Amino acid sequence: MATICVINGPNLNMLGVREPGVYGTSTLADIERLVRDTADQLGVGVSFFQSNHEGAIIDRIHEAFGREDGILINPGALTHYSYALRDALSTVALPVVEVHLSNIHKREAFRHVSVTAPVAAGQIAGFGPQSYVLGLTALAGLLRQPE
Ligand code: DQA
Repeated sequence: MATICVINGPNLNMLGVREPGVYGTSTLADIERLVRDTADQLGVGVSFFQSNHEGAIIDRIHEAFGREDGILINPGALTHYSYALRDALSTVALPVVEVHLSNIHKREAFRHVSVTAPVAAGQIAGFGPQSYVLGLTALAGLLRQPE
């Protein structure tokens, strides 16, 4: 069974209380439950990791090398500036799908840039928790059929 590492970056542990008008009222635990249910339906395994620390996220990406088959990541604000995170994703060379709860492209200008998306297979943004479901489904499809 393919296994996918689901990574959430800074401030996503505060979902539910964090700017509900932008991010909704689901908690990270709610989203992880939804992702696990989707994974069960797709027949893939998932593991979850969240950190507010760039280095810890990079360490977790390195740990995925040789152990897991793909990465579903919401890098939070690191999306917009972390070349180190981008390099970590390139380093392990696993299939990556980037997801965002909000539509970053219709928000502040600094959120329009993703430095990580160019090393991902694709990006899904703007569908709330469903972004994770869509992203996981796309990633599972890629793992079944890499082309
Ligand atoms: C986010 C969008 C980012 O711009 C922001 O910094 C986040 C959450 C999203 O899921 O919409 O932390 O990644």
